Amino acid sequence: MFSKRIKLLKAYKTETTPCNIKLSSNENPFDLDESIKLELLDVIKSIEFNRYPDPHATKLRQTLAKLYDVEPENIMVCNGSDEAIQYLMLAIGELDEEVLIPKPTFPMYEVIANALGRPISEVTLDKNFQMEKNALLKAVESKPSLAFISNPNNPTGNLFDDEDIAFIRKHTFTVIDEAYYDFCGKTYIKDAVRDEKIAVMRTLSKIGLASLRVGALIGTKEFIREISKLKMPFNVSSTSQAMADYIISNHIDNIKNQIKALIDERHRLKEALSEIEGIKVYDSCANFFLIKVKDADFVHKSLIQKGILTRNISYLPNLENHIRISVGKKEENDALIKALKEIAV
Ligand SMILES: Cc1ncc(COP(=O)(O)O)c(C=O)c1O
Repeated sequence: MFSKRIKLLKAYKTETTPCNIKLSSNENPFDLDESIKLELLDVIKSIEFNRYPDPHATKLRQTLAKLYDVEPENIMVCNGSDEAIQYLMLAIGELDEEVLIPKPTFPMYEVIANALGRPISEVTLDKNFQMEKNALLKAVESKPSLAFISNPNNPTGNLFDDEDIAFIRKHTFTVIDEAYYDFCGKTYIKDAVRDEKIAVMRTLSKIGLASLRVGALIGTKEFIREISKLKMPFNVSSTSQAMADYIISNHIDNIKNQIKALIDERHRLKEALSEIEGIKVYDSCANFFLIKVKDADFVHKSLIQKGILTRNISYLPNLENHIRISVGKKEENDALIKALKEIAV
């Protein structure tokens, strides 16, 4: 019944082990204030539950346009940026043309390419997690029609060199995935709204609204018009549209304060982790850290026993014995530091 392609697929793994402290999915650890949740009850009351959602997400698009300093016509609202990845894979180039991705990077690019049978052209990363020059030259030789660059890169946490991104842009349509933009401030949005060979993805998932599943694809108006042909008509629910619109319109300062607190915690956590013997910590421009330990399975399991969930990413290429840890609240980070000190890493 299933195609050979689908039978060969490996399901995308997420960390679901229940733990008191969850530092595994790069979420914002701060939930919405109780008072904002109460305000949202009125937003819910205003929804006509018997009607389909607005297929154009008109109001939310206007709000996101203000947030991103673009026009609403430059945006397609998606059910998380994962949905945008799927549309881009379907829309740009032919299905038998290669997709360039760095390796390691966010696994969904590969999962979706595999699901569609699109070949992948990998660019391995060097010890600083930048793209290896030879691998980059080789990757463009086979004329990929699409490239995905997570910038900052998940799971390594670094921004890629601008020159390497410029080189890729010269050769192929380039998607800059800015899921972690808020933690680094580096963006290609200005390029995306005027250059038809680049698009940017943003998401509300990393800034505190992961439950809503709202992502945005940003590009020239023509590009957005064309790719919107693929969009499922009612891809973002009325509740998600209304809540995201309300929160971004009325409480963005709250979110910005949380982001600032997380960036401060990132600096503190980096220092504290660096002082623990047996741990190598890499710099991060995002809301997570990559660390290297002697035995990642042991450390990951020991942390779970202490009620702390992290992401063991040793299965990714060149990342043996590496663990990814999201920046949490101060008390969560303190618990992590204490636990790592106790575990003989
Ligand atoms: C680089 C990157 N892009 C996209 C996503 C998915 O975002 P969304 O929740 O909007 O689908 C993630 C989630 O971890 C990510 O790390």
